[in-house]
Amino acid sequence: MTGPQGQPVFLRLGPPPEEPNQFVTEGAPQSYSPEVRARLELDAKEIIGRYPDKRSALLPLLHLVQSEDSYLTPAGLEFCGEQLGLTGAEVAAVASFYTMYRRGPTGDYLVGVCTNTLCAVMGGDAIFETLVNHLGVRNDETTPDGKITLQHVECNAACDFAPVVMVNWEFFDNQTPESARELVDSLRSGEPAEPTRGAPLCPFRETSRILAGLPDERPEQDRGGAGEATLAGLRVAKELGMEAPPVPGGQS
Ligand code: FES
Repeated sequence: MTGPQGQPVFLRLGPPPEEPNQFVTEGAPQSYSPEVRARLELDAKEIIGRYPDKRSALLPLLHLVQSEDSYLTPAGLEFCGEQLGLTGAEVAAVASFYTMYRRGPTGDYLVGVCTNTLCAVMGGDAIFETLVNHLGVRNDETTPDGKITLQHVECNAACDFAPVVMVNWEFFDNQTPESARELVDSLRSGEPAEPTRGAPLCPFRETSRILAGLPDERPEQDRGGAGEATLAGLRVAKELGMEAPPVPGGQS
């Protein structure tokens, strides 16, 4: 290509390898073996069959391939595109928008420390710093034993239990630097602590299968829901006989 004065202009195509957060992780699989592919196709067929328009199955399919590799790889992205009749650009555009899709190898437990405003002022920043020092890894890095990937996470809509830590997307409420340190130690020792709310933990790849919509075989998988802090306002409103004002126009 040439510029306005006819001078050559260098255009690099594709993602710059030095730029973080691209799907260019070194060593990532570029394709699946026939056995893996056949297994994934069976799962994909079941998932796609739930949608009237198959392209709507992209989000669960991304979780499915993440359950295979622990992150999104060229092999996984290509598989999703093939199954759904989407271009690589369409798949990557969706995959790169959502933070639950990982860009690099993920440990058995993805430990997300909320450092958004409320959690940060309630101690989230101190928890994150404690875990960085305790585990010897920084944001988005995995411990050498492959057990824990540490991550900053944005608000998880659990501000009334701040500061919160999420492990494989299950809540550990009202954490402190000490309790978070004990939590990661228990994860590494193979005796994971119970989430404050939600079902017992399972490894990240299994969590990804559940998020893909495949059967959740954990005991008490429907445990959880709103906790006391979330419902406190409602309880007080009921005690005081408070009601919402009528909606203009008379509709309830
Ligand atoms: S700020 Fe942490 S859950 Fe909302």
